[in-house]
Amino acid sequence: MTQRRILVTAALPYANGDIHIGHLVEYIQTDIWVRFQKLRGQECRFFCADDTHGTAIMIRARQEGRSEEALIADVREKHIADFTGFHIEFDNYGSTNSEQNRKVCHEIWSALRDAGLVHEKEVTQLFDVQENTFLADRFVKGTCPKCKAPDQYGDNCDKCGSTYTPADLTDPISTLSNTTPEVRTANHLFVRIEDLHPFLEEWTQSGQHLQTEVANYLKGHFLGDPLRDWDISRPAPYFGFEIPDSPGNFWYVWFDAPIGYIASTLEWCEKTGADFDRWWRNPETEVHHFIGKDITYFHTLFWPAMLKTAGFNLPERVHIHGFLTVDGEKMSKSKGTFVKAATYLNHLDPACLRYYYASKLGPRLDDLDLNLEEFIQKVNSDLVGKVVNLASRSAKFVADTGLSDSYPDDGGLFEYAASRSETIAAAYEVCDFNGAMREVLALADRANKYWDDQKPWELKKDESRQAELQEICTIALNLFRQIIVYLTPVLPQLSEQTGELLNDPVTNWEQAQTPLTGTLVNKFQHLFKRIEEKQVQAMTDEAKAEAEATATEAAASEWNDTGDALTQEPMSAECTIDDFVKVDLRVARIVAANSVPEADKLLQLTLSLGGEERRNVFAGIKSAYNPEELVGRLVICCANLKPRKMRFGTSEGMVLASGPGGKDVFLLTPDEGAVPGQRVH
Ligand code: MSP
Ligand code: ZN
Repeated sequence: MTQRRILVTAALPYANGDIHIGHLVEYIQTDIWVRFQKLRGQECRFFCADDTHGTAIMIRARQEGRSEEALIADVREKHIADFTGFHIEFDNYGSTNSEQNRKVCHEIWSALRDAGLVHEKEVTQLFDVQENTFLADRFVKGTCPKCKAPDQYGDNCDKCGSTYTPADLTDPISTLSNTTPEVRTANHLFVRIEDLHPFLEEWTQSGQHLQTEVANYLKGHFLGDPLRDWDISRPAPYFGFEIPDSPGNFWYVWFDAPIGYIASTLEWCEKTGADFDRWWRNPETEVHHFIGKDITYFHTLFWPAMLKTAGFNLPERVHIHGFLTVDGEKMSKSKGTFVKAATYLNHLDPACLRYYYASKLGPRLDDLDLNLEEFIQKVNSDLVGKVVNLASRSAKFVADTGLSDSYPDDGGLFEYAASRSETIAAAYEVCDFNGAMREVLALADRANKYWDDQKPWELKKDESRQAELQEICTIALNLFRQIIVYLTPVLPQLSEQTGELLNDPVTNWEQAQTPLTGTLVNKFQHLFKRIEEKQVQAMTDEAKAEAEATATEAAASEWNDTGDALTQEPMSAECTIDDFVKVDLRVARIVAANSVPEADKLLQLTLSLGGEERRNVFAGIKSAYNPEELVGRLVICCANLKPRKMRFGTSEGMVLASGPGGKDVFLLTPDEGAVPGQRVH
């Protein structure tokens, strides 16, 4: 068999959020497929990267008061830790904000220009003046122009279902700043993708590259009409790459995101000395993309059009999967089913989810459900009960002797399982992991039946039958190992542990064809534990608590308060409650206020603390308040401040105010109901 050269990608996760169990459907699926290809001896490489550009990331960085670069560096680290935790192994993990990506973007852009596909058009959009940014549809809310339902998003109405542009909304509001945006126009660059219509028709409908449902969807929704021009630029400010021949404009994130696949490969070539053209400009390389159904049209229309124009390899196949539901519903923060990768790993073994997803994934686009009950039951009965138990029960009997020197007669069990190799491989190849798991588990059932029929625990008691026991264990461990070879793409860690147990690492699919004999058997380590219901409960509890904590944070950040004031005047050293109570703060009424002619900043205030108690206070608030407007007003004063003699008289206290000074001084006033003389605690 000739070796295939296969380049695989999974969609680049956005750098504005954590990896969750929904994303993991894709990354686990892709990792299994890649491991399968590698185990079969293909020259296969797996590339991914963080998708770092766009408005959402720019806005989040602003809200967090740090640079986009700092934000994406942080998220990248978390993403990599999550992937590693789930044994998802990339050959390179890049970033769309890399020099490699900039370089490939320039190259593809020149090709589009040279082909005469780029032209300019004016676009009218809403602009948030306070945040200084054009607003994507999802950042605008307002009243539906058709049915007048309030609080609708910029592109369509929840209530009546009509679609429109944000500028059509009655009283639009920017969700970034809660201000009313302006209508502004800007020049955008468009790609006339219609010029590639015949090519796309042919490529999508050939039956070679897409699942049938996807090909039909594209035909029904896009290819029946002329393809609309693709708006590929965004005016500044935008976090991304500036377009070289259009200063002030940036490539829209969906232009440079898929190019990240190529850039990640390029980065890997630079690191390892591999030949780039061999991977991206060579008809013998098969490019396979794995994506979710929500991003179908970017990958099946725009992307092939870009690749075609620039002369890169076209995808051999785009594998599209459905969406994850948990217990039959969309992942829900309040129910604790919106589980982050990191949260899962605090409670459960990654192998459990890998196996469960494998058992659920088929070649079609159906959504898949993580039923938590079934998850526990399936992992425990299949992985622990049928697979791992084969080894845990037999290994201990041969810890001293090792495997028999020749493979005993097993009634054809090993040979039968070896003969299933190509059927199982074919299922993996077409992403029918569910079919592959069923095949393998059927082999486990046969092996377990063999074990139970032999009643080895009875042989154990009989000194004269130890040779027979060794043979039975040799068979059981070989059937186990064969199953593990077939499960290696799904359960890499269990496979590694099996290699250690039997002193023979699993490195190739063909190892399922030949039994292992004469090797030592190491002491059996616990390969895998049963899932307890309380672990799953603890995981969803933690997810729920996290969601509540972020909701509180989000409520605070809705006001968009900057950290400027704190930066300008950093926090003082810690004080004790005793320090605090030394300062006697009281509610006071301003009963008289006069300007001090000799001092341009000061007002002279007479404060009443109730009854006969008065204080004469000089306050630096003249630029901010007229004396007349102050009379009668309640303020807070420090009533036990040591009196200070000034040029114009003695100041016997202080009124509390915030702000840097000048016009920006803000007096503190108690809520209604407070009366002069009350202490402030
Ligand atoms: N950044 C884009 C992809 C750019 S590819 C050039 C993106 N990122 S994402 O983080 O939102 O999603 C990454 C992948 O995870 C996508 O393929 C998406 O379909 C998939 N999933 C996200 N949520 C999912 C579920 N709940 N279920 C299954 N897959 C999900 O899209
Ligand atoms: Zn409406």
